[in-house]
Amino acid sequence: MAVETDPVKIMKQEVGKTAASRVSSGAIVGLGTGSTTAYAIESLGNRLQSGDLKDIVGVPTSFQAEVLAKQYGIPLTTLDAIDRIDVAIDGADEVDPQKNLIKGGGAAHTREKVVDSLAAEFIVVVDSGKLVDRLGSTFLLPVEVIPMAVTPVMRAIEKLGGKPELRMGIKKAGPVVTDQGNLVIDVKFEAIDNPIELEKTLNNLPGVLENGLFVGVANTILVGEIKDGKPTVR
Ligand code: 5RP
Repeated sequence: MAVETDPVKIMKQEVGKTAASRVSSGAIVGLGTGSTTAYAIESLGNRLQSGDLKDIVGVPTSFQAEVLAKQYGIPLTTLDAIDRIDVAIDGADEVDPQKNLIKGGGAAHTREKVVDSLAAEFIVVVDSGKLVDRLGSTFLLPVEVIPMAVTPVMRAIEKLGGKPELRMGIKKAGPVVTDQGNLVIDVKFEAIDNPIELEKTLNNLPGVLENGLFVGVANTILVGEIKDGKPTVR
C-alpha cells in the first residue's frame, strides 16, 4: 500500500481500506471512480495478492477505475457477462442525511449510476466534509449532455432556476470530455428541495444522458474524519 504522510490522504486510505475489507471472496464488485475509491481498489488488489481474498471480479465505472484495477491485478468483467453485482464501492461529492448523493466530480456519474444501482450493497466512501444537510449546498450538480445539445440544455436548465456552466478541463484549454465522448454542465441550484423530482426532470431534457443525483441508491456511508490528529472511520 502506498505510504501516505498527508493526514487527508491517510484518512481517505483508511476509508478505502475499510470498504475493501467488507468484500468477500467470490464477489462481483463495482469499482467506483475518484481519489477515495482508488484506495479501495488498491486495497482489494493487496488483499488478492496476499491471498486474503480470492476470485473477485470487478466492474469498472470509468476508464480511470479500469486502469487502476488492472494496475492492482483485479480481474475485470462487463455487465454483459454477469447477472448481479454483490457490492459496489464508490465516492461522492455530497451526502445528505437520507443517504442521497451528488456524484460526478470526476465526470463519471453516468456509468457510476448504472453500476452502483445494480449492486446489492452500495458502499459510499467519503470524508466528513462531504456531509450536508441539503444537496447542492456546496457542490454544483453535474449533468452529462451530448455535445450538440449543450446550448438548448443550458437554456432549459436556466428556465428550471439553475445556473449552468460548461465544465472546462485543465488550464481551461477545452471542455472536459466524458468516457462516453460527451460534455458536462455543472449547475448551481439555490436549493435542491426535491432531489427525486429534479433527477427525473433533468434526465427528461432532450440531450441529457444522466445527472449526478443518486437518490435512494446508497446503502452504507463510510465517513472518514481526522480526530485529535488521527484518521478515524465511522
Ligand atoms: C466521480 C465521482 C467521485 O466518486 C466523486 O467525485 C468523489 O471523488 P473523491 O473521492 O476524489 O473526492 O463521483 O464522478
